[in-house]
Amino acid sequence: MIAPLLSLAVLAAFVSATPHNKPGHASPCQAIKPPHVPGAHIVSIKGTEKKNLTVPEAPTIPNLDICQVDVVLSHPHANDNVLVQVWLPLSQWNGRFLGTGGGAYAPGLFDLYLAPAVAQGYAAAATDGGVGVNPLTPDAWALKPNGKVNSELLENFIQRSIHDMAVVGKAVTESFYGKKPHHSYFSGCSTGGRQAMVEAQHYPRDFDGIVSGSPTLNRATFNVALLWPQVVMAEENTYPSLCEFNAFAEAGIAACDELDGLKDGIIMNIKDCNFDPYKLVGSKVTCDGKEITISRNVAKVVKRIYDGATTPSGLQLAPGMVVGTPFDSVANTTTTPDGHRVGNPLFYANEWAKYFLEKDAQFDTSRIPSSTFKKWYAQSEFEYTDIFADSVPNLTCFKDAGGKMIMWHGLADPLIYPKGSIGYRQAVEREMGGSRQVDKFYRYFLAPGAGHCGLPPFGVGAPLDPVASLVEWVERGKAPDTLPAGVVDADGVQSTHDICKYPMMSKFVGGDPKVAESFMCVRHF
Ligand SMILES: *[C@@H]1O[C@H](CO)[C@@H](O)[C@H](O)[C@H]1NC(C)=O
Ligand SMILES: *[C@@H]1O[C@H](CO)[C@@H](O)[C@H](O)[C@H]1NC(C)=O
Ligand SMILES: *[C@@H]1O[C@H](CO)[C@@H](O)[C@H](O)[C@H]1NC(C)=O
Repeated sequence: MIAPLLSLAVLAAFVSATPHNKPGHASPCQAIKPPHVPGAHIVSIKGTEKKNLTVPEAPTIPNLDICQVDVVLSHPHANDNVLVQVWLPLSQWNGRFLGTGGGAYAPGLFDLYLAPAVAQGYAAAATDGGVGVNPLTPDAWALKPNGKVNSELLENFIQRSIHDMAVVGKAVTESFYGKKPHHSYFSGCSTGGRQAMVEAQHYPRDFDGIVSGSPTLNRATFNVALLWPQVVMAEENTYPSLCEFNAFAEAGIAACDELDGLKDGIIMNIKDCNFDPYKLVGSKVTCDGKEITISRNVAKVVKRIYDGATTPSGLQLAPGMVVGTPFDSVANTTTTPDGHRVGNPLFYANEWAKYFLEKDAQFDTSRIPSSTFKKWYAQSEFEYTDIFADSVPNLTCFKDAGGKMIMWHGLADPLIYPKGSIGYRQAVEREMGGSRQVDKFYRYFLAPGAGHCGLPPFGVGAPLDPVASLVEWVERGKAPDTLPAGVVDADGVQSTHDICKYPMMSKFVGGDPKVAESFMCVRHF
């Protein structure tokens, strides 16, 4: 009789366990039930209590008390080890689960996003998708030893890892607190914004609410289209200096800034902005102390970057950059030791071409001719469109499941141009009965002046807490017409701004430009 009594006692200890550690008993953190994940098996699960935790990625968020659960899972025949990490606040759990997304080639950014989430009371999760956490390059996982693309890991990266994370995260949360999260959310930007769209399109029941920031849509082809500025420079045999590019960005802002009624260096009215780069031909700029005359070739390069990738016959392949956006990410150049300026492709596109198209880690992408661009574009579309599947405009299942989505994009995003997500939004409107119908479950916000994902140095103008607006919508039915934004400027002055719901735009109506009340959301200026 001893053994059954003992196990009863152990059982009783677990049943009465609360997230607060009791002396003499295993902490519930160390006794999380292994979750059941369809299509995968659990390799290991380990819970660790961490008290007074401060992480370098979020130094302003001190003294977290969490249970950290590391779940490792694997898919049959994939030979993968996927880490899903769940952070559970030891006290003051807000009853919700929040999945977080990745950036560039990393499926998850872990501490950077988990710390602020648990500080707000969320049980939160991130995953490495079995490919690791290096955002800069997929060199560790893209190719198998036989030189072929590792399609299982690519599938983790693109499609299934956020879904697995949702399943694991919700189950672990329930096991720890003894009840299911009352609502579950996902928030991501860039790669995370794309992950958000994959969830809405293919796993519409995973989350009650989704924030998709600066999503990289039509990724299979956009990965190549990111090289367009480099192709244009090679074709025109003209590599403008950053100083010359800056002259165009500034002239564009000067031309369109005041269309919103306020001269503040921020373009809000992109609809009426018709800046012509050729207007600058013949004008003089001072670069490195030398006076330079803007040439027609340089203006042509800029014009073609704004126009976006096209075929030689003029068919649009991908959207172009918005006027006023900095050029240094996608149209960067570098100077060789012998003083020549040459192309310097954005790492993301560069790595994509090397590993997933040429399948050759040594391939040099710095001077590709337009014939290579055309070939890559077609190849990427052919080989990867089906696996990315990130731009399906039919969101019926997500809508029918009661899901709500906030999508936002910086109007000065220098990496992922907002015209891409504008195009997606318009496609959903065409597919699903127009703007008012779509607004019932998917609201879209263009943030004036904001760069990529609100990350420094492009932080200005990004929404402050879109997840909070989403929670209000999902749980209290308050659909957002605006998203609060604002910054503390160099003089320590806090400004506020409300980002308008698409297709509305911010118009200055008078007063202090640093307060939101001085602007109105309008459809036309
Ligand atoms: C928590 O950590 C901080 C440093 O981050 C330290 O100053 C403080 O004493 C710690 N508190 C406890 C209760 O350990
Ligand atoms: C542009 O290239 C230079 C090297 O020539 C590099 O130092 C710089 O970080 C690059 N800028 C961006 C925004 O990538
Ligand atoms: C959208 O998807 C739903 C659910 O799968 C389907 O019933 C509907 O026919 C689709 N709409 C269109 C226009 O294809």
